[in-house]
Amino acid sequence: MDQTVKLTYNDKIYEFPLVEGTENEVGIDIKALRAQTGLVTLDPGFKNSGSCKSEITFLDGEKGELKYRGYSIDDLADGASFLEVAYLLIFGKLPTSDQLNKFQSDIHQESLVDEDLKAILKSFPRKAHPMGALASLTSALTAFNPESVDVDSEEDMYHAIVTIMAKFPVLCAWTHRKVKGLPLNYSSNDLNYVDNIAQMMFRMPNGTYTPSTTVNSALNKLLILHADHEQNCSTSTVRIVGSSHAGLFASVSAGISALWGPLHGGANQAVIEMLEAIKADGGDTKKYMAKAKDKNDPFRLMGFGHRVYKNFDPRARIIKVAADEVLNEMGIEDPILDIAKGLEQEALNDPYFVDRKLYPNVDFYSGIIYRAMGIPTEMFTVMFALGRLPGWIAQWREMRKNNEPIGRPRQIYTGEVDLTFVPLDKR
Ligand code: SDX
Repeated sequence: MDQTVKLTYNDKIYEFPLVEGTENEVGIDIKALRAQTGLVTLDPGFKNSGSCKSEITFLDGEKGELKYRGYSIDDLADGASFLEVAYLLIFGKLPTSDQLNKFQSDIHQESLVDEDLKAILKSFPRKAHPMGALASLTSALTAFNPESVDVDSEEDMYHAIVTIMAKFPVLCAWTHRKVKGLPLNYSSNDLNYVDNIAQMMFRMPNGTYTPSTTVNSALNKLLILHADHEQNCSTSTVRIVGSSHAGLFASVSAGISALWGPLHGGANQAVIEMLEAIKADGGDTKKYMAKAKDKNDPFRLMGFGHRVYKNFDPRARIIKVAADEVLNEMGIEDPILDIAKGLEQEALNDPYFVDRKLYPNVDFYSGIIYRAMGIPTEMFTVMFALGRLPGWIAQWREMRKNNEPIGRPRQIYTGEVDLTFVPLDKR
């Protein structure tokens, strides 16, 4: 393959190098474009633009494949613990037993959250969306752990990583308890990472807590499936905030805000709200399909479509099977699962969706499992953030270790030119 591309501009030919990745992706390296030609590129939403080289995650949108550090998501979801996958994403290798035990032990050392953070949570109205509380609490971690900001040394970075890996699940569980008006639980150093999350979320003070293998196993799988996804909106946010050398907690807090949007992580909540609206409307899926196709209607079929996947989202395929398993094992009949499956079948056979390659994404079925676990709808995106944390950490760490430059895109100015200032008393 020719290692360059040629650009002709103003009767001059410019050459730019090609970059080829280990999964055979090819990109044009335009680092010298403006210096050589005076030109910049324009690509709203970065649909055609790569922001970095990365060794962490690869997804093939055409084939519907997802791999973390070269391992297939199917193998990891079936065979690994979420903490193993977190270690793999962050440090680049599957851990040995000793490495995993040390990681878990170091996390246990940091599993208490400063009691004063409860005051921040308590200051939020009960009806406040938990993602807003979570973003604030995560940003506040900097104030209570100031040493975790300057992470130029590997040792300091490791300490910041285990600190947020330990404290973030506590904050997520606290937002869940706040939504339900329940007392806050503490982390338990007697439990593994996912079992600890479940006990913090579900243990009640007035009874004996019996962990559910079905729930904890499904939670482990869901968190793995959400752990990373290349340069998605929230991860790109974490990278660009971190590129100014803002600390890890501040960068993750920014990522939480980006994930909150209904076009991104907020879609899992919007899917359930959409399915419940269809159910309330007599299950009339055809009406909502028509709304989704009507250009004059802002309604979109939530949980469908993806910027990169132009085939089934492999995560949706795994979660759909898990949803059936969890509901069967828990003996739950959820009519919106049937509505979801009916909607999926209609969309997969509708030319509007087929022509645009709109398939179910990760958010389409995940909410059905969270619902079966008794998690409130407004908490679904918090669960997404809980899963995505290791990916955000891994991408932030890679960006800092690669000494990436501060993110600062160019633009094409299309506003007014050379106006004469008119004093206020003359306007
Ligand atoms: C996540 O990037 C990631 O990796 C994200 C994520 C991750 O793990 O981090 O995978 C998680 O965010 C999954 C996506 C969750 N969002 C939703 O489910 C919201 C519904 N989906 C859409 O809003 C949309 O599909 C996006 C935002 C996901 C992708 O939008 P794009 O890539 O900008 O595509 P587009 O808006 O340009 O749509 C292309 C066409 C348009 O129609 P035409 O103008 O060509 O006629 O498809 C249509 C769109 O109107 N379209 C839809 C649709 N999604 C796209 N029409 C109806 N319903 C939809 N859901």
